[in-house]
Amino acid sequence: MKILVLNGPNLHLLGTREPALYGAQTLEEMMAAVRRHGDQLGVAVEWFQSNDEGALVTKIGECRGTVDGLILNPAAYTHTSVALRDALQASPVPCVEVHISNTLAREGFRHTSLTGAACVGQIMGFGAYSYILALEALAHHLSGRT
Ligand code: DQA
Repeated sequence: MKILVLNGPNLHLLGTREPALYGAQTLEEMMAAVRRHGDQLGVAVEWFQSNDEGALVTKIGECRGTVDGLILNPAAYTHTSVALRDALQASPVPCVEVHISNTLAREGFRHTSLTGAACVGQIMGFGAYSYILALEALAHHLSGRT
């Protein structure tokens, strides 16, 4: 089983970006932990980060036939991007949306996710561990178990 973790804008700044909200780990450290967890589950994990909405749309499109599942932290595009939602809806590859922070406990404009409705489900609010939970949830979903 192969999955892609796709990270949106400003997530390359993790470690120094608002650590009270997002923690002290860098994106590289978080993704290394997801990879290690994937090894335990027998899931190959690739990851990618871009600040560019178009690059994220392209990556979602490239998932077809190349990976079994997608974990997506669309970051700020969660709340704005019809393009990402359309890309997810056009894709046969199941996606789990993930957020480090609990967006429902933050500003009102973060309470809406345009992308979430095109995903299998959402996990948020558990810090870096949200990604591990998303991997567990996606692997479970892909296994077809109930
Ligand atoms: C985020 C939440 C978004 O509202 C925000 O724009 C981010 C990060 C999170 O992981 O908590 O950039 O997606």
